[in-house]
Amino acid sequence: MRIGILTSGGDCPGINATIRGVCKTAIHHYGMEVMGIHSGFQGLLTKDVELFTDKSLSGLLNMGGTILGTSREKPFKKGGMTEDGIHKPSLIVQNMAELGIDALVCIGGNGTQKTAAKFAAMGVNIVSVPKTIDNDIWGTDISFGFDTAVSIATDAIDRLHSTASSHKRVMVIEVMGHKAGWIALYSGMAGGGDIILLPEIPYNIESICDVIHNRVKRGKTYTIVVVAEGIKTDGKKRPAEYIAQKIEECTGIETRETVLGYIQRGGSPTPFDRNLSTRIGGHATELIANGEFGRMVAMKGDEISSIPLSEVAGKLKLVTESHDLIVQGRRMGICFG
Ligand code: F6P
Repeated sequence: MRIGILTSGGDCPGINATIRGVCKTAIHHYGMEVMGIHSGFQGLLTKDVELFTDKSLSGLLNMGGTILGTSREKPFKKGGMTEDGIHKPSLIVQNMAELGIDALVCIGGNGTQKTAAKFAAMGVNIVSVPKTIDNDIWGTDISFGFDTAVSIATDAIDRLHSTASSHKRVMVIEVMGHKAGWIALYSGMAGGGDIILLPEIPYNIESICDVIHNRVKRGKTYTIVVVAEGIKTDGKKRPAEYIAQKIEECTGIETRETVLGYIQRGGSPTPFDRNLSTRIGGHATELIANGEFGRMVAMKGDEISSIPLSEVAGKLKLVTESHDLIVQGRRMGICFG
């Protein structure tokens, strides 16, 4: 059997460790052939592929990014038609057959899960793997990349404490997460944030300023505000800039902002993410070997499992106010808006 593997959407720490998990399991345990597809679904449109050997899989465990390259090509967009009248999904199915690919592993985020579900509905032998630093893929408790992003963001917040304290400032840090507040919640709590704003919880600038004034009254000389990139703003400025300006206007306290950006996605995965990737990758290959197609590998607690792609597609896993970290944070006086 020959399997194809591709990575689609934004990169994230742990992708290469996952590729290694899928491919080594396929080659060593199941005696399969593995074909790497470059640049996501784009590579299936142009047949941009390479046959992996054991040697191509060396040194991947701790390597950031994706050795396959990625793209945001969505073959089903606009009815799947190119300007020249070619139906992209059909071309991909035809190319897969010509390349001798019997089954496909797609490593990707929410958009990729949607695409994979559509190919599964067309009868393609497909298995997908949840990949995102945002941790917002429905149906899995955790996705690789999240732990690494939280570690990086927490380190950044740790570092802001000393400069905020020296200058008696309010420091606003913006972290990624798309429409979800998972990175902000976990790094904000781990980094000792005083105010944490998530897209899932509406905030009020006056209440935030009251919290800062009260902190000053209690002798707290500085305040750390962690904001998720997905919070509502005026739509013109970056969330960190918007919140910092509002806070400075209403408190009169010098306020600075930091946007952490792509640093959260780059570089080596944490040991936790490497092991998660290894387990998830190996399980994806096992699903293929068992002929269990149209499924996404998922984590339920520490148990590895899988769920039908049709159940995942189009949904988002968001933070709820009943999350223990929010409940506990509120009890300790942390403001969530
Ligand atoms: O989904 C991962 C993520 O890094 C989000 O946190 C962020 O909003 C988005 O990707 C950025 O995407 P792009 O790589 O297209 O700028």
